[in-house]
Amino acid sequence: MRKKIIAGNWKMNLSSSEADELFKAIDDPHYDNNEVIKIIFPPHIYIDRFIKKRKEFKIGAQNLSSYNNGAYTGEISGSMLHSIGCEYVLIGHSERRLYFDETESILSLKVKQALENKLKIIFCIGETKQERESNQFINKLQLQLNQLSKSLSPKDYENIVIAYEPIWAIGTGLTATPNQVEEVHAHIRKKLEDLTDSKTAGNVSLLYGGSCNPSNAKTLFECPNVDGGLIGGASLNAVDFSSIIKTLQSTHK
Ligand code: PGA
Repeated sequence: MRKKIIAGNWKMNLSSSEADELFKAIDDPHYDNNEVIKIIFPPHIYIDRFIKKRKEFKIGAQNLSSYNNGAYTGEISGSMLHSIGCEYVLIGHSERRLYFDETESILSLKVKQALENKLKIIFCIGETKQERESNQFINKLQLQLNQLSKSLSPKDYENIVIAYEPIWAIGTGLTATPNQVEEVHAHIRKKLEDLTDSKTAGNVSLLYGGSCNPSNAKTLFECPNVDGGLIGGASLNAVDFSSIIKTLQSTHK
């Protein structure tokens, strides 16, 4: 059965003391069930510390190197992340694709590194505003999933979560409507089925990301093919983030 997941992507925000304060506020054991997997993606330098003090949260990395260990100054490898107890990694986020020129071939090397080092992957896909307006969005998402599938064996899908993040909705305050999100998620599920089989596809968690907040979370999470959210801005506010987690906990489908 697929899992419900809320993941907070802190991006490049928060000083050391601010990060500690926020983590303490969200990781208090005040969630009444463990049905929802809760993950924080802090900046790299805070990962080790949070792994040591975490209670309910799992910790993920926002990035990993496409290389294995060696002479790659400034890089952090999948094996290093695994060795400190990091469990998840984000790959394919639109900000990495856009600002750091992460092409499909780089992303496939990263996927390989993550899987070899037993990291679970939240793989992000999404269309631009222009692709949405010209009705090219389904094609774009299918291409991204085709590329991803080239790096995966059927068994690898157990370690993959897909996050649909329309680029026009990230950090903009514009949210895709529940109808738009369900339409896309149903397509993603169907595409995964074509790439694998219905059982495998049915077990992959699909997250929505893009200006998700306490006011819109409920209607988004009620969509049949939405299994949770990848939260940016709202994950930097303990009250908002906890509220989003509780919303998913109380959503029954
Ligand atoms: P947002 O970011 O919630 O601030 O739109 C989501 C993301 O980039 O993962």
